Amino acid sequence: MKVGIIGCGYVGLTTGVCLAEIGHSVVCVDSDEEKIKKLISGKTPIFEPGIEELIKKNKKRIKYSSSIKDAVVENEIIFIAVGTPSNPDGSPDLSYVENVAREIAIYLTEYKVIVEKSTVPVETAQWIKKTIQRYKKNNVEFDVVSNPEFLREGSAIKDFLQPDRIVIGIESEKAKKLMLKLYKKIKSPKIVVDTKSAELIKHASNSFLATKISFINAVANICELTGADIEKVALGMGLDKRIGRSFLNAGVGYGGSCFPKDVDAFIWISEKLGYDFSLLKEVKIINQRQKELFIKKIEDTLWIIKDKTIGVLGLSFKPNTDDIREAPSIYIIQSLKQKGAKIKAYDPKAIEKMKNIFKDIQYCKTPYEVAKSADCLLILTEWDEFKKLNLKKIKDLMNMPIIIDARNIFDPQKVKSLSFIYKSIGRE
Ligand code: UDX
Repeated sequence: MKVGIIGCGYVGLTTGVCLAEIGHSVVCVDSDEEKIKKLISGKTPIFEPGIEELIKKNKKRIKYSSSIKDAVVENEIIFIAVGTPSNPDGSPDLSYVENVAREIAIYLTEYKVIVEKSTVPVETAQWIKKTIQRYKKNNVEFDVVSNPEFLREGSAIKDFLQPDRIVIGIESEKAKKLMLKLYKKIKSPKIVVDTKSAELIKHASNSFLATKISFINAVANICELTGADIEKVALGMGLDKRIGRSFLNAGVGYGGSCFPKDVDAFIWISEKLGYDFSLLKEVKIINQRQKELFIKKIEDTLWIIKDKTIGVLGLSFKPNTDDIREAPSIYIIQSLKQKGAKIKAYDPKAIEKMKNIFKDIQYCKTPYEVAKSADCLLILTEWDEFKKLNLKKIKDLMNMPIIIDARNIFDPQKVKSLSFIYKSIGRE
């Protein structure tokens, strides 16, 4: 099939490249000409394991352009995958989606399916439909479909090609047939619903996962107050099939480009519809408090922060990505700087991006360089590289052997047996 993708961010590019991988001809469009130039030269503007290989492998089936016209004219299915950033009041800014819909309308000359891939509030598909109807130049038919993405950064390609499910929100049999044909090669369950339910599945799923994380973080705090062990509690809870062990890792709160934004948007849209989703407001509060409690933990361990050298291992919001959007590391470094700490930091992928936020901290080439003369070491992202550190060497390099681990990557007994002072989340 011939597919146009508008927006070459994480979602759009992964969608385009993976649709090419299953045999479709794809045109990827982005208004950022630099990004398009980069893609044409074979480089990817994002870090996502495996994507560069797939771009090379499917070179013949992927074209790039900075003109929306190229995504529309020759293609039967057009994906909208542009950003929906948060406004200050938590509502999503849908102006990019609207602009794209208006421009698609201008080039419609025959029947097409327009797919909303960006995460948007319930009822957006109807607005896209109304907008295209208003701006189209002739009597041509079209359908709007909601096909939310569930890609996780770091495993986006696998999540696309072997998803738990594919959600397709449609309003016509014609669109249903075309969408099922598009995904025919992917052997996962496909659920076909109305557009509003599809939109809600996305917001409800992400908000539920965020709730799971805030819940386990709250339980971790109770563990600390009682001397129980969160890892054992999560294991015991997770073996109940109705609960499941995944997304029960206590830590320093969720970050990234999706959960914080989607929780805000779901609170906002519920309120707009006349329902106070107070549970989600609390999920958000617990997530923020988790970062504040981590700072308190550092203060409870070090007493005075001023003039201490604090080493930070891990800057990205989670491992295997260079993404620092809403990363807990930003809040933590900012607070410690305000309290007068000297910060040294290392991350396998995210240093360049963090340099745009903090210019005046010391970036290091290895975790060992961070440890050198540090009064304390913080683990903020659970990169595999950190799990394999030579802790004896780390201890010898540090000014004071103190590790405060926000991701529970080490066995407390093992670290303490090396004479470290070791603090983690929800366990002794
Ligand atoms: C998420 C959703 O998983 C994906 O389906 C959606 O479409 C986009 O948003 P992503 O943001 O890439 O994906 O990361 P994810 O792996 O879900 O982690 C999100 C955040 O939750 C990270 O900050 C992570 O550290 C945190 N997290 C996750 C926990 O603190 N504990 C857990 O048990 C799991």
